[in-house]
Amino acid sequence: MKRVLSCIQPTGDMHYGNYFGAVKNWVDLQEKYDCIYGVVDYHAMTMPYSPKKLRENTWDLIINLMATGIKPEALFVQSLIPEHVELCWIFNCFASYGQVSRMTQFKDKSAQSEEKGEGFISVGLYDYPVLQAADILIYRADYVPVGKDQEQHLELSRNIAQRFNNQMGKEYFVLPESLYTETPNIRSTADPSRKMSKSAGEKHYINVFAEDAVIRKQVKSAVTDTGDTPAGEMSAGVANLFELLKASGKLDAHQSLMENYKSGSLRYVDLKEAVADALADQSAIFRQRKAELNADKKAVKEMVKSSSENIRKRAQETIREVKDLTGLLNVRF
Ligand code: TRP
Repeated sequence: MKRVLSCIQPTGDMHYGNYFGAVKNWVDLQEKYDCIYGVVDYHAMTMPYSPKKLRENTWDLIINLMATGIKPEALFVQSLIPEHVELCWIFNCFASYGQVSRMTQFKDKSAQSEEKGEGFISVGLYDYPVLQAADILIYRADYVPVGKDQEQHLELSRNIAQRFNNQMGKEYFVLPESLYTETPNIRSTADPSRKMSKSAGEKHYINVFAEDAVIRKQVKSAVTDTGDTPAGEMSAGVANLFELLKASGKLDAHQSLMENYKSGSLRYVDLKEAVADALADQSAIFRQRKAELNADKKAVKEMVKSSSENIRKRAQETIREVKDLTGLLNVRF
């Protein structure tokens, strides 16, 4: 069975953009592949952050991932597997300085940091993609489900693997490939010209655990048509509502809405009601599962501890072999 690996940074709430754009795909991949998913807290330290928040966000994300359908045995927390960082160092010595300095995510994030006047850009932010390569290669992952924005990092991972294999004279690391799945691109309901995202503010995202009333209110106030859509084209707001309906698996049950749209008789209230119902039903299930997990946090912690311990064994095996190959000492104390 082919192995799939992906990771996500612990940053607060999960919204429907995250869920339909990534997490749901991860859930579905569990049926077909040997999947491991990491909550990467070492990566979350690369920009200025709060230690207390980091730990809270890490546990929250674990619970959110479990509540939305990720199997607990597939989950690990990066800082419980320090071998990632050990391999990162070794990879620092196989990564091209020139290539790392061309990473656009680093350029974007350091520019953002400058703009905010933080006046501090860490070496960790620069090295971030090398740690990401370690996350992937340490498990010999075949496929990495990520968005197009991560293609450059994946290319770097392949180059590191290639250089390592060449230098060691052995096809040791698997060259990972990105796994693109057609995932919906969910927009902000308040401003469909931008992605649904947390950074834009409360109006711009719908939390997957939101209460019914909150979801209904947000969907009700969704922007539909601002009047500047060219004739014959669907406005971004309406398209986004249809996209949400489709992503929730409810488009087929509401074919009449699309027919009405085509004949010019669609009432936006009907579309909004269908979307609100679909999301509210979905969220009710998520909230229920989350409440169950929250009721026994100790059990959740135990589960993650034991799954991380199991996954760590694979990482340790890689490190032992890598030390053998690279000439580092490999003594067991
Ligand atoms: N850089 C990824 C992102 O911003 C997160 C990430 C870290 C990751 N390590 C990874 C993704 C390993 C896939 C595989 O989304």
